[in-house]
Amino acid sequence: MGKLAMLGGTPAVPSGTTSAATLWPVVTPGDEQAVSRVLRGGRLTATAAGESEVPALEREWAEHVGVAHCVAVSSGTAALRVALGALGIGPGDEVVVPALTMNATAHAVVQCNATPVFADIDPDTYTLDPKRASEVLTERTAALLPVHLHGLPADMDELASTAGAGGLAVVEDAAQAHGATYRGRRTGALGLLGGFSLHPSKNLPTCGEGGLITTDSGPLHEAALALRNFGERAPAGTRTYIAHRAGGNARLGPVQAAFTRSQLTRLPAYSKDRDLAVTALLGRLAALPGLRVPQVPEDRSHAWHIIRLLLVPEEMDMAGIAPASVRRALHRVLRAEGVPVSQYQVAPLPAHPAFRPAGLSYEDIADRFPSSCRVIDGSLCLQRRHLNPAAADVLPLYARGFEKAWEHLGLVRDIARAQTGDDWRRHFPDGAR
Ligand SMILES: Cc1ncc(COP(=O)(O)O)c(C=O)c1O
Repeated sequence: MGKLAMLGGTPAVPSGTTSAATLWPVVTPGDEQAVSRVLRGGRLTATAAGESEVPALEREWAEHVGVAHCVAVSSGTAALRVALGALGIGPGDEVVVPALTMNATAHAVVQCNATPVFADIDPDTYTLDPKRASEVLTERTAALLPVHLHGLPADMDELASTAGAGGLAVVEDAAQAHGATYRGRRTGALGLLGGFSLHPSKNLPTCGEGGLITTDSGPLHEAALALRNFGERAPAGTRTYIAHRAGGNARLGPVQAAFTRSQLTRLPAYSKDRDLAVTALLGRLAALPGLRVPQVPEDRSHAWHIIRLLLVPEEMDMAGIAPASVRRALHRVLRAEGVPVSQYQVAPLPAHPAFRPAGLSYEDIADRFPSSCRVIDGSLCLQRRHLNPAAADVLPLYARGFEKAWEHLGLVRDIARAQTGDDWRRHFPDGAR
């Protein structure tokens, strides 16, 4: 039994020894050459005559996903906004969004002047629960916007039948799920349109900001191209600058496209290596009582963008202690061991001031979105540091950090008891209890 680092023992993850192995994104000489090639060529925007990096990335990503079309845009948020805009979603429309996701999912809806309507997540997969989604449909619902949260595809067939009954579109928020599969098909090929992020923290990064839209539909492809570029039609020859519809500038730059193309050549190998390393880590963590590792249904593969670990106090001999208190205690113990756990999303989206429907109290939110609240309060996440394939050598040290904490659950319990017991409401001055 090792002495805990917070009591003066040696940390499970020695400080400073892991930075090269856990750096993300990995930038190779090939990536640097790809960027230099664009800088030297002088075609620095997607609209420069003869620019070929952006169309090449679009072809390569469409092929990777298995769809007919891809439109490269300036961010993942822009990808979702343009995808919804291509469907004609606008004022008066409602779009169903999971209560647990990054705020960008709901912002994309708001940017279309439509209303995000929230539904709870499935307690096991953390993705939009089709049954909960069906309960919030109204005559104004125009689309479902499920999120493949952390890299696990949502239950798309069930969501498609929920949507099908009302003739609704399903748009995938695949920002976190590059390359993950559902029933043999890749994310981005599962809905009418899919939106990906190329943020440097993502599994397929760019150097800066970027996003990708995928679709099999020719008309939606045309609409997305126009929305990306001032409502103009893709020029057959010289650009006319005629705005055929309202639009904006959501273009991706060639430097970013070239960097991502170079990264894409390594995505399959990185994903495979990561899957092996994460599976080995989770095998060890699953042996710890009260620690729920992510569940991957047999019909899906996980991109492991984020690893969420749910704590069950009752199984840790901590019945009666609030999950948020247990989480906070473990957070302190694990960080001292050098394990970089964090809380991903601190409150359900319907509680954020930007999205909270008028008249919806924090108590209502706790009642209506119990799984989202439970998962937010009672889980810890590993982010980014496990993405580099070289992190395979570091993840066993993380596992050791967890095992040490579990060897000292009595102390963790004492620390947890001393916590205030606040839940997600403490982030809102008018919600603190
Ligand atoms: C689930 C989800 N959707 C959308 C986005 C938005 O992507 P971006 O940051 O590229 O705009 C993110 C980014 O963090 C995300 O995690």
